[in-house]
Amino acid sequence: MGAVPYDTYARQLGQLVTEASSGRWERLADDVHAALNGQAASQLRSLVPRQVRRETGSFFTTGPVRNSFEHLLPPVPAQADAPTYWDPTCGAGDLLLAATAKLPLAATPARSLALWNRRLRGHDLQESYVTAARMRLVLALLERHRLAGSDEPLAADRVAGALPLLQVGDGLQQLHSLGRPARFGGSLLLNPPYGMAEAGPACTWSSGSTSLAATFTAAAAAALRDGSRLTAVLPDVLRSGSRYRAWREQLTGLLDVHEVKPHGMFDIHTDVDVFLLSAVRRRGGPVRSFSWWPEPEAAEGQTLNDLFEVRVGPVVDNRDPRTGPEAPYLTARDLPAGGEMGLPQRTRNYPKRLIAPPFVVLRRTSRPGQGSKGASRGAGVLVVGDRPVAVDNHLIVASPRAAGVDRCRALLKVLEQPEIALWLDERIRCRHLTVTAVRDLPWNGTDHLASMSSPPPHAKAQ
Ligand SMILES: C[S@@+](CC[C@H](N)C(=O)[O-])C[C@H]1O[C@@H](n2cnc3c(N)ncnc32)[C@H](O)[C@@H]1O
Repeated sequence: MGAVPYDTYARQLGQLVTEASSGRWERLADDVHAALNGQAASQLRSLVPRQVRRETGSFFTTGPVRNSFEHLLPPVPAQADAPTYWDPTCGAGDLLLAATAKLPLAATPARSLALWNRRLRGHDLQESYVTAARMRLVLALLERHRLAGSDEPLAADRVAGALPLLQVGDGLQQLHSLGRPARFGGSLLLNPPYGMAEAGPACTWSSGSTSLAATFTAAAAAALRDGSRLTAVLPDVLRSGSRYRAWREQLTGLLDVHEVKPHGMFDIHTDVDVFLLSAVRRRGGPVRSFSWWPEPEAAEGQTLNDLFEVRVGPVVDNRDPRTGPEAPYLTARDLPAGGEMGLPQRTRNYPKRLIAPPFVVLRRTSRPGQGSKGASRGAGVLVVGDRPVAVDNHLIVASPRAAGVDRCRALLKVLEQPEIALWLDERIRCRHLTVTAVRDLPWNGTDHLASMSSPPPHAKAQ
């Protein structure tokens, strides 16, 4: 297994470097620009089969996400020494390319290369990616010199020995090997593979099948010297999923998180939502209070949880026995886009907990920016009827703690508000709505409740 077909492109880049380093720029400027901006990713898609890209966790950071990443990297102060930038899963070097924008140029390409040779470090399991990364970094250096008007040729032996700290190797092992006192004192850049693997026996924040991105990031945080920086592109499930709460705690135990930026889809070809993280290894002192998502800003500070009991539907259809009383069975398939419905026609024998109407259900699988059947994300459906219902586990159920169907109707109105859809998108970008996110929804339905007689028993003191 491996990305061997990518060799073809790595060799093309080598030829481009040979021509550019001898100063023959007339025909090359466009080719070099393409090689530095998106071509490496498009060549990956055309040369390496999708299955291999998946298995090897290969997708390269390009376009808007690379621009946002570059903006997160702080400038190097004029008097200070440039840090060493290290991407332990460097692919074709896009994060390192973003970092070179912060590196100074010397008087000639050869002198700049001598500096960059010491400042740029990378690892990847795929040799062709490492070669491509080296060649692209040399092209970036030559292009900057050309734009600065100092484009002297670069000798072939310098090109051949360029960027020796970019090596084929296991980045995770490298990170793990950096225990005290040899922790990394430079700037760590990270967009790791996003596949799943078993957490190791020493892992304190997860067990079983775990996102490799989480494993790499935790190892990166542990490998950093105090005061050193981590800048990362990561799958949004790590920021917003309850599965990764302990991971977030592990990270904030070690790092001062300076910025968390939800980004949306990685790129138009890669349907994975990501966020950007900028953090610095804490030098000691207390953990700074920090939120991974926007805090609910509710009228009177209330959230949905104050007024509704929120839980996942209990029925796991293919696992639960078909015993017990026959009950109406509510599934996502049978839901209208929004509004109200009576008891579902579908029935099922179910031995465990049934839920008494009225209640509001939301689909768990709605994507950011859109809901099912044309409704907005988080659109709810009110279920009324006189028999308890077996509710499928693809649905989230909100049962009013008081005020019955009127409060459910008020909730439908709250869920229709565009700002609630926006809030949900910011709060949770990964595929599935979570119970925690729904519980935290800001409740601004007081107008609809003004006519109600009894105050909600679980409302916070005002
Ligand atoms: C999501 S890609 C990102 C590449 C690059 N960081 C970027 O942002 O463009 C992840 C990369 O990790 C590499 N990779 C996977 N497992 C690795 C490991 N154990 N050590 C080093 N690299 C690894 C893959 O070959 C792939 O190039």
